[in-house]
Amino acid sequence: MKGIILAGGMGTRLRPITKTCSKQLLPIYDKPMIFYPLSILLNSGINEICIVSTPKDLPEFKKLLGDGKKFGIDLTYFKQLKPVGIADVFNVTRKFIKDSSVTLILGDNIFFNFDKDQLKCGDVDGARVFCKEVSNPQRYGVVEFGQNKMINKIVEKPSNPPSNYAVTGLYQYDKNVIDYVGELKPSKRGELEITDLNNLYIKENKLHSVMLQKATDWFDTGTFSSLFEASKYVHQYQMKNKKPIGSPEVAAINSGLVKKQEMLKILSKENNQYSEFIYQTYKK
Ligand code: G1P
Repeated sequence: MKGIILAGGMGTRLRPITKTCSKQLLPIYDKPMIFYPLSILLNSGINEICIVSTPKDLPEFKKLLGDGKKFGIDLTYFKQLKPVGIADVFNVTRKFIKDSSVTLILGDNIFFNFDKDQLKCGDVDGARVFCKEVSNPQRYGVVEFGQNKMINKIVEKPSNPPSNYAVTGLYQYDKNVIDYVGELKPSKRGELEITDLNNLYIKENKLHSVMLQKATDWFDTGTFSSLFEASKYVHQYQMKNKKPIGSPEVAAINSGLVKKQEMLKILSKENNQYSEFIYQTYKK
């Protein structure tokens, strides 16, 4: 299983703050947004990961995360020259995927209390989507259920949602994903839609849906308000529980990618509040 984090897009809805800075580098309380999706992949032990972003922003992600050695992983970077849709990410990363199954996580999707066992870390058969009941389904890909709770189809941003179940920005695909993407036609807005890709898997009876647990909280940070709410969540959680949440350093330790003592040594030299907090929490 390999991992892809898509951190592209122009972030136009969050202007002016995203005029000079990639959305996925904005702070969610004490860490850049991309740390959260990266932690989800690391927690599951996925250790070959690539980051896809615009030619303008990609160097910033490289500066932040380097070659991944700190986290015990191989990190590579791919440019998406034009923002032509989420499903295009598989064209861009064809050489990286080769014959593997892949987990795709959108760089602006933040999950808390995610049960890592819900994510398969070996090969998958078909595709898997992760759904969550929401109060504003119009903003998302929404599931239409048929008989026996099977998914009939997924509808992108429907004005009359067929259910309250949104498809979150976390997906797993088998190695055939590149062939399926080859069958896609651009949508009305000129993009290769992730929802169209998932509907192709449904047609072949190969889409599995996973309901996120009630305890899992999900933020899609597409608005100022959700950005703020996510930061507030992290601040409150960390104050109450006296431990970091959404930290790739901690995820790397917990999943055995890096030895705890090794990570503590690195953190002790970094001399900032974020590293110090992790160091103090885990040194015992
Ligand atoms: C994208 C997908 C949508 C999904 C959402 C999750 O929408 O197209 O199906 O529900 O991510 O965050 P976007 O937020 O890019 O408009």
